[in-house]
Amino acid sequence: MRRPGGAGHPGGSRSSVHARLDRCGVPPQAAGARGTCGGRRGGAPRRLAAALTAVLLLAGACRQQMDDQPRYEPLEASRFFPDGQSSRPRVEGTVARGELHADAALYTGKTGGRLVEKPPVPITADLLARGRERYDIYCSPCHDRVGTGKGVIVRRGYRQPPSLHIERLRQVPAGHFFDVMTNGFGAMPAYAHQVRVHDRWAIAAYIRALQRSQRATLADVPPAERQALETEGAP
Ligand code: HEC
Repeated sequence: MRRPGGAGHPGGSRSSVHARLDRCGVPPQAAGARGTCGGRRGGAPRRLAAALTAVLLLAGACRQQMDDQPRYEPLEASRFFPDGQSSRPRVEGTVARGELHADAALYTGKTGGRLVEKPPVPITADLLARGRERYDIYCSPCHDRVGTGKGVIVRRGYRQPPSLHIERLRQVPAGHFFDVMTNGFGAMPAYAHQVRVHDRWAIAAYIRALQRSQRATLADVPPAERQALETEGAP
């Protein structure tokens, strides 16, 4: 970044620095007398305050310089391109950085046209926590928090989805959940725009946890906690 006030500093930014300095009551004697922009009357504190103010203003000026650089707003007209548009279509045959999406399983939930059985991401406690949060936000309004399909929107007349605990949905590959979120399913709209790829897998993993939670047996509980449960339950 160019040093503010140095050679080549654009006029606009420089004058805005001056304008602000003036507004702020520099010279410092005046500022001190009016009690604005820097502490009480008196040598050292006032000088320190003035120095701090100057540093802050100059930092602000740097930002200003970045704000003022030439650029197009989204969809702004351009006189450079013959069609008058500044937003350009992608050059044919190119892929934007980060958009290769070569991993079909990750981005479509399918490999070789078949739904993947398990989420193609590591299943961690963090992933499930994220999935739970995203599910509660995006899915529970219809599917409800437990997944029985009686969310508030449904209670007000939206078509009722099947319970996520029916046998068919317990058996489907996890890729099906990803596919339903990505492309929609019957009366259910797609959520690809609101829920990003990684979050869709987090939700898919969480649905598996939800399904398990409704049919858990004592054997699913880790031994340490099992004992606690058993003694708790004892009369
Ligand atoms: C606006 C209400 C609504 C929201 C929000 C919603 N769904 Fe649905 N969902 C439905 C409806 C309705 C169906 C049944 C569609 C049909 O059979 O036509 C359904 C069906 C499903 C099915 C079952 C598909 C099958 O094979 O029968 C799954 C799985 C599902 N949704 C997952 C989700 C997930 C995950 C989210 C959150 C990202 C979500 N839904 C958000 C309404 C919703």
